[in-house]
Amino acid sequence: MQPREELSREQIALSDPELWRAPEEVIEGAFVTLRREAPVSFHSEVALPPLVEAGPGYWALTKYADITHVSHDTDTFISGKGIAIWDFPPAMQELFHHLGFEDEPRHGRLRRIVSRAFTAGQINHLESVIAEEARRTVDAIIETGEVEFVSEVGGRLPVRIICELLGIPDEYHEPIYKQSGIAMQVADPSLLVGVGAEELQCKFMEILQAGNFLNELLHELVTERQRHPRDDIITTLMTAREDGESLTELEFRQFFMLLAIAGNETVRNALAHGMEALTRYPDQRQLWAGDVERYADSAANEIIRWATPVMHFRRTATRDAVIGGQEIKAGEKVVMFYRSGNRDEQVFDQPYRFDIARPIRPAHVAFGGPGRHYCMGAHLARKEIALMFSELLSRIPDIEMVGTPVRSPGNISHKVDELRCVFTPTVERVA
Ligand code: HEM
Repeated sequence: MQPREELSREQIALSDPELWRAPEEVIEGAFVTLRREAPVSFHSEVALPPLVEAGPGYWALTKYADITHVSHDTDTFISGKGIAIWDFPPAMQELFHHLGFEDEPRHGRLRRIVSRAFTAGQINHLESVIAEEARRTVDAIIETGEVEFVSEVGGRLPVRIICELLGIPDEYHEPIYKQSGIAMQVADPSLLVGVGAEELQCKFMEILQAGNFLNELLHELVTERQRHPRDDIITTLMTAREDGESLTELEFRQFFMLLAIAGNETVRNALAHGMEALTRYPDQRQLWAGDVERYADSAANEIIRWATPVMHFRRTATRDAVIGGQEIKAGEKVVMFYRSGNRDEQVFDQPYRFDIARPIRPAHVAFGGPGRHYCMGAHLARKEIALMFSELLSRIPDIEMVGTPVRSPGNISHKVDELRCVFTPTVERVA
């Protein structure tokens, strides 16, 4: 990948949907320019007339050091006023609120409780489910010789894992897959710029309906568990322990919303970007296929840095501060562009080289910078990617992308909608 600096500093508008429709090399080129000439720059927000007025604008952070600093200083830079660039319209605020929008002390309390879902025993169990699902996925395609990777490989695994994590039965996987994809759009108003008033209203309704659907589904499950408690995570999270802590039904539904949105599309997109990168850099695919076990962890980590599936999150300053020499006033929005931080040439050696043996330190910021909000699913996500590619490269090592991936514009989710792949079909005989 060679970034192309086609836009001057003045032409780079990070909220402009046109920028996000440009080729990846041009988007990367814009961030190279910003890191060099304006590491902290101010950008306007989009308006969605007649429903949403433009917000006050935001400071975009593009350097790794500034991103990690802001992420770490959760007293000065809070999440409670929103983590997407725009402030959600009132109708969406409660529906899409979750742990990620909480500050201390409430955040600490909720995180302590939901960490019961991520115990060592639970993670071990999930790793065996990931391996089994990866096997099943390859079983389903191995004789065909071609596959639409996003829907048939990347999409199923993360939904299954989240449902397994919470004990949600199989019949809900498909609707959760569909509706969480729609609900995810709440984070990205830039996708709706230029849409007519009527269509905008419809889109808003669609997002609200997807949120309501997920909410209702969880309400049913929670009600069922209240009547018939079981030895599972829903019951565990909603039952008080000696410390008296448990989630209310609303908090549980919000936790599910976070997982459905944060742990689903992210892994799917990382897998798709990984497949694309392994095609574009055949030497790296050969290296990994030659010793699948040896590179699994570092390769998964590199795929996540390369993909940076969540391109930014926002904070709001609680007091005047200085970041990278730029004064920030209390109340102003600060947006951490993880995608740019992960290509910072002062931190990563040859950042535009896809290198499956890249050391895991310095840590990339695709899971957020260090601090209280660091992704709780980081270990699981790495395992999902490592085990899925291990299975693919062991059984169909010549799988590769054909044509060009269909990308979705938008500036928060680094999304691939479609990625066609081919490989030599194999008929496996049961011994
Ligand atoms: C490659 C996949 C993933 C990426 C790139 C990713 C990225 C992120 C990012 C950037 C944050 C926010 C950090 C912040 O605000 O500072 C986050 C938070 C979170 N993620 Fe992930 N995530 C991924 C997968 C997952 C999975 C699989 C799960 C769960 C099964 C998960 C659960 C969470 C939770 C619960 C939080 C909220 C933490 C908090 O606010 O305290 N994520 N993730």
